[in-house]
Amino acid sequence: MEKKKPWAGRFKKGLHPLVERFTASIEFDKRLFKEDIKGSIAQARMLERAGILTKKERVELERALKEIEKEIETGSLQFGTDTEDIHMAIERRLIEKIGPLGGKLHTGRSRNDQVALDLRLYVKRETLEILHLIRKLQRSLYGVAKDNIDVIMPGYTHLQRAQAVPLAHHLLAYYEMLKRDSQRLKDCLKRVDIMPLGSGALAGTGFDVDRAHGAELLGFSAVTENSMDAVSDRDFVVEFISHCAVVMMHLSRLCEEIVLWTSKEFGFVELDDSFATGSSLMPQKKNPDVAELIRGKTGRVYGNLVAILTVMKALPLTYNRDMQEDKEPLFDTVDTVKGSLSVLAPMLETMKINRETIWEATCGGFLTATDVADYLVLKGVPFREAHHIAGSIVASCIEKGKELTELTLQEWRSFSPLFEEDIKEAVSVEGSVKRRKARGAASIKEVRRQLKRVERELKKDII
Ligand code: ARG
Repeated sequence: MEKKKPWAGRFKKGLHPLVERFTASIEFDKRLFKEDIKGSIAQARMLERAGILTKKERVELERALKEIEKEIETGSLQFGTDTEDIHMAIERRLIEKIGPLGGKLHTGRSRNDQVALDLRLYVKRETLEILHLIRKLQRSLYGVAKDNIDVIMPGYTHLQRAQAVPLAHHLLAYYEMLKRDSQRLKDCLKRVDIMPLGSGALAGTGFDVDRAHGAELLGFSAVTENSMDAVSDRDFVVEFISHCAVVMMHLSRLCEEIVLWTSKEFGFVELDDSFATGSSLMPQKKNPDVAELIRGKTGRVYGNLVAILTVMKALPLTYNRDMQEDKEPLFDTVDTVKGSLSVLAPMLETMKINRETIWEATCGGFLTATDVADYLVLKGVPFREAHHIAGSIVASCIEKGKELTELTLQEWRSFSPLFEEDIKEAVSVEGSVKRRKARGAASIKEVRRQLKRVERELKKDII
């Protein structure tokens, strides 16, 4: 049987079933039930303070709300689309359970400040979870870096072999990206952490509610200052999704490298069997589907960012029903980022590093050509000229089918009399990496220093 809407007073007819289905958000906003109950309990306490509810009434409301929370948790309370959204579903159940007293809870409140509150509570909770998952992934990166501190690999620019670098240095670059991601999310939290309840539909309320008390009950550090802004602001959703989009961008870059590194062409790493998939046709295949999916899912999150920006564009103040469209992009972003972070960490921890193959790749391809130029610079040759000489040495090696390490001193000298016996050490991969002194450079010594700092950072509180 169709139940009457709480707002049905001025209507003569019920909703057309198509409209009912079209406008309902319960299917997806039911995920806010915990936030909604928490907010309603705070609302009841604010109303008690304002003298709208007696203590006895407030206690009864609170008890019933907690029961409803259990009912939803255990699945004994189900929602049909005629309930419209989670806020109305809970209120309806409340009135069903305790009668007219349930109808007092919405005094001075609108679904507009209610939904803004629920969303802020939700984003706060999920941000914390994401911060924990980022930390976990950082730990995995640290672990793989530390365990392979002695592995030197080719560093790339333009995906062409450029200079030899420690694998740990390469991995710790992702640690830095994730560190900035955490900083951004924490900064965003400052703006999420503001309580909108008490803003009513748009104009606030005439009831004497102590909003600061509500903020304290709900764990917010401040209350919103303008009721119209409070109910129409979704900046915090835009900001949150945009930071998540950057997280995904970083993960997609790491995943792209894993896709490359697991290919036969690179062969640098091998995924654990439990993190790779086979082909239904080609028996030999071992595919990096997880990495590819994370790369692909990055597109979803970018899409969600554009979706929320587009929903909010040019909306007049204050609340408009368009804003109900904020939820699916937000929820999808949370699920995608959490899922990606969760699966990536153990995948990294279990992958096998093929030291031999990496070493072979590092020994070929003139990765120490820059060191030849630097060698001459130390003997007083201007860098431009040194670069030119080094270039012609590389060209001649390519012609002869030789690596730099295979040249005799006589051959070196035919390019410049400044070359001496120590050029051999200078063009070795180990020598090249060891010589780097600048802070943050790709040397084992600098990597050790980074690892120490990272270790300290990983011990710090998340917030
Ligand atoms: N389900 C709505 C939303 O998510 C709740 C607010 C509805 N407010 C209204 N005035 N119709 O945006």
